[in-house]
Amino acid sequence: MKEADLQDIEVGLFLEALALRHGYDFRHYAKASMKRRVEALAHAQGMSDIAELIPRLLHDEGFLPEVLSRLSVPVTEMFRDAGVFLALRREVLPILASYPSIAIWQAGCATGEEPYSLAIMLKEEGLLHKTQIYATDINDVALAKAEEGIYPDGVIAAGSANYLASGGKASLSDYFHSAYKFSKISDEIRQRIVFAHHNLVADGVFCEMHMVVCRNVLIYFERSLQNRVVGLFHEALVRGGFLCLGHRESLQFTEFENHFRAVDHARRIYKKQGSGK
Ligand SMILES: C[S@@+](CC[C@H](N)C(=O)[O-])C[C@H]1O[C@@H](n2cnc3c(N)ncnc32)[C@H](O)[C@@H]1O
Repeated sequence: MKEADLQDIEVGLFLEALALRHGYDFRHYAKASMKRRVEALAHAQGMSDIAELIPRLLHDEGFLPEVLSRLSVPVTEMFRDAGVFLALRREVLPILASYPSIAIWQAGCATGEEPYSLAIMLKEEGLLHKTQIYATDINDVALAKAEEGIYPDGVIAAGSANYLASGGKASLSDYFHSAYKFSKISDEIRQRIVFAHHNLVADGVFCEMHMVVCRNVLIYFERSLQNRVVGLFHEALVRGGFLCLGHRESLQFTEFENHFRAVDHARRIYKKQGSGK
């Protein structure tokens, strides 16, 4: 048997052990990227074989956060894909404005840049005071950073061009307090966001959402899992609610394709149709 095939077996056994021992099921994530990440985990532990990870996973409780942190990819940035924020600002927020209160679920929030960007935009459109954002992720290390809301100044500087391209009306730094090369998000923005651990593979839904934003997460899932997760979002949304996915993700080939209408196909913004909730 080829070495690569043996490694595939080891990755499969490792993911099986993770699911059985800890209830975290990565078995339906895209195989190639999962293999790279499990290999990187073994390498970081100084292990030459993936199989060596398995006893550690089974017997060392303290190993789980490191594993979850390595298997999920909390790469993000402020106002990532500025055109999406511009489209939300122009096409979606004017509709959300008609609701007495607005509930948004931002799934896969990583280190918080995306929910903070949404909150800043809502503030500028005069909607933040009546909005609650639920920002969730499986990666507790990333979530802790998100909750803290403290970033190196470089993150704000790097996000500034995106912010302006997204229709930003002030300066991104206006929403942060800067000290010693770090910037902390202002309390006014922070207090409209609840951060919570939530696993899209296994957990239930947040209900009565007016918008779900989940970008650059489904891309890591196999089609069967994408289907489950889009089903969760469909269930979470009120009728007429909006769903925003990442630019390499779409509803095509999911069971729910016909339950949404594209508001802006290029920006992956959809509206829930039908006679459900
Ligand atoms: C590449 S980041 C995307 C961050 C942000 N949405 C953006 O587009 O900039 C993917 C995030 O999805 C999270 N994630 C992966 N699997 C998940 C799951 N089963 N449930 C919840 N979050 C998950 C990862 O921890 C990571 O923070």
